[in-house]
Amino acid sequence: MDLGLKGKNAAVTGSSQGIGNAIANSLADEGCNVALSARNQDRLDQAVAELEAKGVKAVGIVCDLSSEAGCKKFIDEAAAALGGLDILVNNVGGMIPGTIDSLDEDTWATVLNLNLMSFVYTTKSAIEHLKKSSAGRVLCVSGVTGKQLMPGALTTTIPNTAIHGFAKVMAEQLGKDGITVNTICPGFTNTESWGPRAEGMAKMRGITPDEVRAGVAAMTMLGRWAEPSEIGDAAAWIVSERNSYQTGTVVEVCGGYTKYI
Ligand SMILES: NC(=O)c1ccc[n+]([C@@H]2O[C@H](COP(=O)([O-])OP(=O)(O)OC[C@H]3O[C@@H](n4cnc5c(N)ncnc54)[C@H](OP(=O)(O)O)[C@@H]3O)[C@@H](O)[C@H]2O)c1
Repeated sequence: MDLGLKGKNAAVTGSSQGIGNAIANSLADEGCNVALSARNQDRLDQAVAELEAKGVKAVGIVCDLSSEAGCKKFIDEAAAALGGLDILVNNVGGMIPGTIDSLDEDTWATVLNLNLMSFVYTTKSAIEHLKKSSAGRVLCVSGVTGKQLMPGALTTTIPNTAIHGFAKVMAEQLGKDGITVNTICPGFTNTESWGPRAEGMAKMRGITPDEVRAGVAAMTMLGRWAEPSEIGDAAAWIVSERNSYQTGTVVEVCGGYTKYI
């Protein structure tokens, strides 16, 4: 099936590694040009070179997406470098562990600015470009903690549930312009950031990182973690021109972690 992504332009937030990078690669495999963003220049340059090797136009923009200025810089520079935008993928995020007692005002600001407000600010800046596209698409990346309670996941549950609400409101607002807005909700995905996270959890529980990973796998129906490319390929379908009547939805790609009907 031709997804209709060839020659389209996509901006993906937080995309030098992990899920954002996998989405960028899946889009590039379909001939889509991609603007990448991250703070670390070296990793970004490497990610850009990998995409260019696939024969698409790729540009890396160093920015900090935890402020509105950083988000605007990314979208403005991405649209200028690629010659417009058809697709925005709001992916950036990071997990900061903590409880209602331990988290202070500054930490909450950090959590919410990166994991939620960046989605609002990049979307705000991208709308004028997406309106000019024949198939404008916004895809938000949340996580299963936005759908099902998980012990210790306070700082991801709050932004993820808010992302679902934000995407629904935007879907309604932008529908008349032919722009679809959806959310992809990954389960536990084997990204670089899980290395130190699994070690930290193992230390707290007095078990090994491998035991942490096995415990996570056992919570899914498929009995395993996702590979980033599995999220990337599902995302590429959702934002494709061929997928024209899906909007305002939350698509779970979680190996059967969620158990409600
Ligand atoms: N991995 C999972 O199991 C999982 C499950 C469900 C949902 N998710 C969600 O999926 C998204 C990606 O997760 P991941 O595990 O792929 O993350 P990751 O491996 O930590 O990658 C994060 C990416 O974002 C960039 N980044 C981080 N902070 C940034 C900032 N302030 N400004 C600009 N770029 C920034 C990083 O590059 P720099 O550090 O160089 O800036 C990197 O390219 C997150 O929203 C996460 O909540 C992940």
